[in-house]
Formats: sequence, structure tokens, C-alpha cells
Amino acid sequence: MTLFPLFADLKGRACLVVGGGEVARRKIDHLLKAGAQVTVNAPEFAPAVEALGAAGQVRLHPGPFAPDLVDRHWLVIAATSDGAVNRAVAAAATAATRFCNVVDGPADSSFISPSVVDRRPIIVAVSSGGESPVLARLVRQELERFLPARLGELAGWAGRWRTAVRARFPTVDARRRFWEGVLAGPLARHVLAGRTGAADEDMTAALAGAAAAGHGEAWLVGAGPGDPELLTLKGFQVLQQAEVILHDRLVSPGVLGYARRDAEIIAVGKTGGGPSTSQEAINSLLVERVRAGQRVCRLKGGDPFVFGRGGEEAAALAAAGLPFQVVPGITAALGCGAYAGIPVTHRGLATAVVLASGELAADGPAPDWPLLARPGSTAVIYMATRKLADVAARLIAAGRPADTPAAVVAAGTTPGQQVVRATLAGLPAAVAAATLEPPAILIVGEVAGLGATLGWFAPAAPAIDCNNAAPPPHPTGTGTPP
Ligand SMILES: C[S@@+](CC[C@H](N)C(=O)[O-])C[C@H]1O[C@@H](n2cnc3c(N)ncnc32)[C@H](O)[C@@H]1O
Repeated sequence: MTLFPLFADLKGRACLVVGGGEVARRKIDHLLKAGAQVTVNAPEFAPAVEALGAAGQVRLHPGPFAPDLVDRHWLVIAATSDGAVNRAVAAAATAATRFCNVVDGPADSSFISPSVVDRRPIIVAVSSGGESPVLARLVRQELERFLPARLGELAGWAGRWRTAVRARFPTVDARRRFWEGVLAGPLARHVLAGRTGAADEDMTAALAGAAAAGHGEAWLVGAGPGDPELLTLKGFQVLQQAEVILHDRLVSPGVLGYARRDAEIIAVGKTGGGPSTSQEAINSLLVERVRAGQRVCRLKGGDPFVFGRGGEEAAALAAAGLPFQVVPGITAALGCGAYAGIPVTHRGLATAVVLASGELAADGPAPDWPLLARPGSTAVIYMATRKLADVAARLIAAGRPADTPAAVVAAGTTPGQQVVRATLAGLPAAVAAATLEPPAILIVGEVAGLGATLGWFAPAAPAIDCNNAAPPPHPTGTGTPP
């Protein structure tokens, strides 16, 4: 059932409850909390309902239900223990175009009372549209845990400052930016911790010091390797605030789905082997948008500072004198290793891990093959699969044994993840025989063999294992720690 969510203002409005027992009393309590004027109709009333009538909190209307009772009431609740009476109430309400809720009768109801998290004036209502009330209740419990107890006080405190903020910031955008900073920052934490005095002092200072136009800012954010849930909490918060998002091709749609609804989303990455926005153009766009006062999230696959040219973008912002922050992400080496069951270090097998690129700039330093071939270490090589045969040959020539376990992980951490394991010498042929979708990463070292037993992630395609050699033993708990 698709329900239209709405919050009704019942203050001073007439509502009718049919039924005089305990269930009816609970409904009456909810209505009274909302300030409704409640009439209760039943042949007889439970003592608690009688007491409410005697105290003048509700109007009691003794006697059997009559259809014309629903007239002049905004809402009707049927809460008797008699199904026929409840249905008659619902029918009368429908005929008179009144909303009616039948307790335990969703089919006869035209509205339902949702599960509610009450942090007045913040109210969160949860409904499963009648499909799974238990699930709705569990969601409510999660929200209860997650939402601070003093959230209502924070809303009230913000409300008291509204006029002053409006006077200080003439435009809606500037006000929104200011409030986002306040409500996600230390001032809000003061209020949530009950330190309203400190919050007021800081707010006075913030209003005095804030520039009316508002400042732009950039965040260089790592989106992680693919699985959207690997985005960090801080990355998520930035995406919720940023007005502009400049993203790479490798950023998964799931991560972009966390962006604010009204954010401007600009793709600046390579499309397949096709044209890409030049790094200079990206730097200029970044600087231009931040300078114009916008909050810009530069969203990059993996980690922005690991083969992500994040350093160059930070340098462009620094040179322009613009503020920026860096939010790290899970780099492909670690994400793909974890999802392929390959710990990049492992006691007794690898004491070091080297991250390298297989596609170095023409004017950059050549790969340090002896370093990458060092025994007892793991080499993780990004962007290596196009030249896999060359890379494998160079590693072997630099001293890495030809039978060293190795693996290529493609589209790691996503449902399309594919893993090919083989010896270093056998891997190029094994990869050529498989049809792998980019991006892909190469992992070389004894640990690559552990994937055969530690692989836990179950993507659509099972791993291809061309390693005839048995996987290396698990050196656990014995021997000297490296
Ligand atoms: C330009 S680099 C960006 C690296 C990124 N900044 C990071 O920290 O992971 C792109 C390379 O990262 C690797 N890569 C990124 N995501 C990957 C994934 N989900 N699976 C396998 N390799 C990935 C591939 O080697 C790809 O060619």
C-alpha cells in the first residue's frame, strides 16, 4: 500500500474516538498530546476514560454508535472490540469524507498511525504501508538509538536564533550554508550536551565573525574502491553538504546516490579509453567553483592521495589560497585485497607492502623493480593489467621467483568482482583467457595464494584459480612475529 505521509495539525480540532476501553484510551492519549478536542463514544467507559471525562479533558458521549456522530470531526478512530461496529464507523466516516483509522483493521482504515520517534519539535514517523509493521518498529528502534536525546532542544535552540541569522545573512544560500556549519559542528554538540550557554556565546561570536557572502571550500574525498558502503562516514557527511560534486569515472553510482538532492554533479573522469578532462581543466574548475563561494566535493575512486592526483589538486587550491580538506578513502589495494581474501601483510608471509603504478608518467621515475621483487613483501600494482606480461617478466628478471603466487582482481568490491589467481609466470596467460572488465589491480606475493582459502566475498563470477601449487600454509600463532 502506498501511503501519503503527512503531519496533521490537530490542535483545537474535534476528533472522535469510538470505543471506551483500554485500546481507545491509548488513542485518546495520543490525540490529547497533539492538542485535539476529543469526543469519546461508547455504551460504557473504562475507569481511566471516565476519569478523563470527569477532568474535562475529553467529552463523553455514552450510547451506541450512530453514523451522524462522525459529522463535524476531522478524524475518526474506531477502537471497539466489535469488528461489526468498527466497520460501521469506517463506513460512516467514508460516507462523510472523514479520515478514519480502525484499530487492527488496515483494510478498513483511510489513515494509519505510524511508529514515531518523538524528539519534539522533531518527529520522525515510520510506516511500512501495512506490509511489515514489525520491520517499521525495528526501523523506529534504530532511529531511537541513532538520534540524540536532546535533538528537540537543538531544534528549539536553532529556532530562537533564526531571526538573528536571517538578519545577518540576506540570501537563502548563505543562511543554509551557515546553518549547515552550525548544526553539524561544535555549536550543535554544545546544545546536545546541555551546554546551551556555551552554544549561545559561540553563536554570537560566529555571527559576528562570519562573512555575509559565505566562503567556498573544497573537500578531496576518497569514494573507496566500488562498494558504496565502503565510503567513510565523513565522506558521506561531505556529500550531504556539497553543492557541487566533481567526480571520476571510477566512482560508483551508489556513492553518487548519497549526494544532496540538489547538488550539481559533474563527471570529469575518463570514459572507457575515451577522452578525459585534462588535469589542468579539473584544477581550474575546482578553483573557479570554490572561489565563487561554492562548497565543492572532489570525489575520487579509492583514496585521493593514492595514484589519484589528489596532491596536484590540493596544490592548485593551496596556490590559489583557497581552503580545502582531504577525506581519505579505502584505496583499491586494500579494498580489493580484503574482498579477494588476500591480506596484503600476513605474519610469516609478508612483512611489507609496496603500492606501485604500472603506468608511470613518461617523465616520472622508472618502477623500482628490485623493490617490487623483494622477498617477504607484497607488491600491489595499479594500472598494470594492460602490460601484464611485461610487468611479470620484469618482476621475474628482478628476482621474484616465477612460481610466486599472484592475482588480478577486477571490479573489486562490486558484485561484478572477478579474481584470477596463478603463478606470476602463468598469470598473463590466465588473465588473457578470462574476460575481465576494468578496473583491475595486480597483487604479487605469497599472500596472493591465501585468497584460495580466505576468499569470503561471493560475487556473481567465482574466482579462477590456475595455481597448480597448493596454497601456502597459514602461518598462524607459531613462529616469530615478523
Ligand atoms: C587512477 S588509479 C586510482 C586509484 C585510486 N585513487 C585508489 O586509491 O584506489 C586507477 C586504478 O586503480 C585500480 N582500481 C581502482 N578501483 C578498482 C577496483 N574496484 N578493482 C580493481 N582495481 C581498481 C585499477 O588498477 C585502476 O586502473
